[in-house]
Amino acid sequence: MKIEDLGMYDGFNLFMVDEITSTNDYLKLNYDSFPDNSILWALKQTNGRGRYDRTWISRDDITFSFLFKRPYNNAIISPISIVDALAEYDIKCEIKWPNDVYLKGKKLSGILIEDIYLNKYQASIVGIGVNHYDKPEVGGIGLNDSDIDSEDLILRIARHYKELLMLDNDSLIKKYKENNLILNHKLIYKEKEYVAVDINIDGTLKCKNSTEEVNIKCDEIFIKK
Ligand code: BTN
Repeated sequence: MKIEDLGMYDGFNLFMVDEITSTNDYLKLNYDSFPDNSILWALKQTNGRGRYDRTWISRDDITFSFLFKRPYNNAIISPISIVDALAEYDIKCEIKWPNDVYLKGKKLSGILIEDIYLNKYQASIVGIGVNHYDKPEVGGIGLNDSDIDSEDLILRIARHYKELLMLDNDSLIKKYKENNLILNHKLIYKEKEYVAVDINIDGTLKCKNSTEEVNIKCDEIFIKK
């Protein structure tokens, strides 16, 4: 395994590797050897991971992780950066709370954010997978456009990420809400039905039904069809 340094783009150090188990796992173990604002892009992942200990099936998809050595509002910024980057190709996506990116009602991109603490905060890893092709076995949709170059998309996401880092929290939440799939929709949370009524300023999801109001922090929700 050889990691190639592809240089600096918009303040990010881009590294590329042909094959790796997981870009998140590699950065978790080796974050000290990489500068702040690095991107590790893998042409192939053999053991990609998703949220809730799931496997991220990597097959001809775009897989990379950002490494930040300062804490940012990555949960809010990362999905917006993907939506904004894809809009440049005229692809209109939406965010499914908390940070999946959906296209035509199906999952196109997933994000796995991991913060490292050793007594105190060390680093954050924001791992992103974008499907190039459909993944019918998991109901995922792909970009299905051979004109979209992986490196070009990664650098566009990085540029939007950098712009979003300059915004204050209120502006970020506003942008997040504008691109959201879930607001005013019915959803199932812990086997009960609610309607998503707001994204709170801390990124939690406010939901209501006729008997209660809940603020969901980072659990899984299911959109009701
Ligand atoms: C999810 O949808 O549950 C999150 C999926 C995150 C997948 C990406 S691919 C690059 C990075 N490396 C990993 O092992 N996972 C993330």
